[in-house]
Amino acid sequence: MEVVIVPDAESGGELIARGIADLLRRKPDALLGVATGSTPLPVYEALAAFVRAGEADTSMARIAQLDEYVGLPAGHPESYHSVLLREVVEPLGLRPDAFLGPDGTASDVPAACAAYDAALAEAGGVDLQLLGIGTDGHIGFNEPCSSLASRTRIKTLTHQTRADNARFFGGDIAQVPQHVITQGIGTILEARHLVLIATGKGKSEAVAATVEGPVAAVCPASALQLHPHVTVVVDEEAASGLRLAGYFRHAYANKPAWQGL
Ligand code: PGA
Repeated sequence: MEVVIVPDAESGGELIARGIADLLRRKPDALLGVATGSTPLPVYEALAAFVRAGEADTSMARIAQLDEYVGLPAGHPESYHSVLLREVVEPLGLRPDAFLGPDGTASDVPAACAAYDAALAEAGGVDLQLLGIGTDGHIGFNEPCSSLASRTRIKTLTHQTRADNARFFGGDIAQVPQHVITQGIGTILEARHLVLIATGKGKSEAVAATVEGPVAAVCPASALQLHPHVTVVVDEEAASGLRLAGYFRHAYANKPAWQGL
């Protein structure tokens, strides 16, 4: 995998947004897998700025959701559907009907999961999947010891993830749902290009385990080592646990321009 060490979250966001803008020039109706959480926000902000400046065209772009809470009422402001409408669909001027996601309100959860995997395949698969990473190494909501072959399914959140996300629920962990629907690791690995962004010291251990550790379900993000096209974008703090940081900097500084993101 390629590891790009950037000075700060803003430049990481801009680098990835440029890659997305390039993808949309090659394929205007690309299916972009989008992630929620705080870390991807600079990507969406930079992409929206490119759209305003006429440097990116998102008018035909489609997006696919990575995960969703189970049991929040439809329209709840913290459902990931609502969050993505606010943070991605509106600022990028996307068509609301170009937005695929699992139904977190479904009474038949396994059927909703299977329907989502089928919808992704029907849509031609994800072209570029943006990923954050949990402090516990999760991608999507695939918590530690998720099957590396998993498909979209229900998962139970760890206490750590619920504590990390309590800030979106007024600091009250009791309000954070216990269950989620998440694309499985096997589902995520089907995207054509995986782009993981991590910033801040709190992610350094998870990043080191992902990039330099063994492929092991205890760190779900380490499954990215099995994919042929992965870009890991990290700021200095998130990179601070990487033994091979010097090599990653050298490789990126000497990257052939034609390779793009
Ligand atoms: P964060 O979440 O960007 O808010 O830290 C990352 C994740 O849980 O995937």
